[in-house]
Amino acid sequence: MEKILAEFRKQVGEFEVVDIDEARIEALRAELDVQAPLNLRWTWTYGSEVEELRALYERGKRGQWNAETDIDWSLPLPEDEWFLPREGALLMPSLLTLMGKDEETCRAAARDELAYVLSQLLHGEQAALQICGQLTNACVSMDAKFYAASQVADEARHVEVLAKFIERKLGTVYPIGGTLKVLLDKLLTAPTWKSKTLGMQCLFEGVAVGIFDDLQKKSLNPLLSDMIRRVKQDEARHAAFGILTMRRVVKESTPDEMAEMEDFAYNIIETLNANQQLDMLRLFGPKYGIDAEMVVQMTHALPEWPKLNSDMFMHTVVPNLCRLGLITERTESLYRERGIMWGDRFGMGLDEDVAKSMVTN
Ligand SMILES: [Fe+2]
Ligand SMILES: [Fe+2]
Repeated sequence: MEKILAEFRKQVGEFEVVDIDEARIEALRAELDVQAPLNLRWTWTYGSEVEELRALYERGKRGQWNAETDIDWSLPLPEDEWFLPREGALLMPSLLTLMGKDEETCRAAARDELAYVLSQLLHGEQAALQICGQLTNACVSMDAKFYAASQVADEARHVEVLAKFIERKLGTVYPIGGTLKVLLDKLLTAPTWKSKTLGMQCLFEGVAVGIFDDLQKKSLNPLLSDMIRRVKQDEARHAAFGILTMRRVVKESTPDEMAEMEDFAYNIIETLNANQQLDMLRLFGPKYGIDAEMVVQMTHALPEWPKLNSDMFMHTVVPNLCRLGLITERTESLYRERGIMWGDRFGMGLDEDVAKSMVTN
């Protein structure tokens, strides 16, 4: 299996990271035009053929909300209050607390990290918006076209709400990380609706559900809680679309096609995991006196590292890939070696919002 971004791989301690130099990242950000071949597909069947997708589409219609008027933007995100617990929720404040830094510095680092993480999610939302637009063209059934169209509206709202939250409450939208740009471009240029669905709807939506669920559970700020709760409910429907669609795809696939999808999924998840927040640590390192590579080495030395690291993957993506038969003995040990998979294959069971989205009535 050839690794994505192989030329930017290097060892930091025991772990192989992806570390793209700043000049290359700048060049990646400047690539605004992406050639994305797309097969448009007509269908003449307007009645429902895929009952569970039609039900999801109905659920999507009922779940619409308005990012400007349904959110109480007058709620503050005060600089002198913790919006997440000081330790255990974000990397930098936990680290600085260990280093004996004062409360104010740790809180400032928490804000910087939140702005950075939400910015990356924001760029991901823009990619989801564009890929779902492609899916309305490429999907085969009218049910899938309807559903993808309703997701386009969801993703536009997510871009809107995250951009507003960052601009109004945090101040800075940070540019996209290099690894993320490469992976999102891969999905945008993926040749078939099947690979786009697997990549965006199963992998990225699954990771997003994991991150949003974690933030929602830990948030101490009413505005942040409300925004995340709303976005997460939508993302759960999107993840459900991925699972429902891929279940049918998997049933019709040959062993070779299954192996190809298994490799595709592994390569994307492995690369997503391989940056280990180096981009962010390099950006804020000088401000807080943090040595990025040292942090990677230190966290990897922790006995609980695989558990901590795998949390966002074990939440939704890994269990779903196992259920679909897209993590087999061939790749399971690789996922485990890289700290993406830990403990039971099915993790904590299906996310409640995702499960609710998959019910037909
Ligand atoms: Fe989204
Ligand atoms: Fe989404």
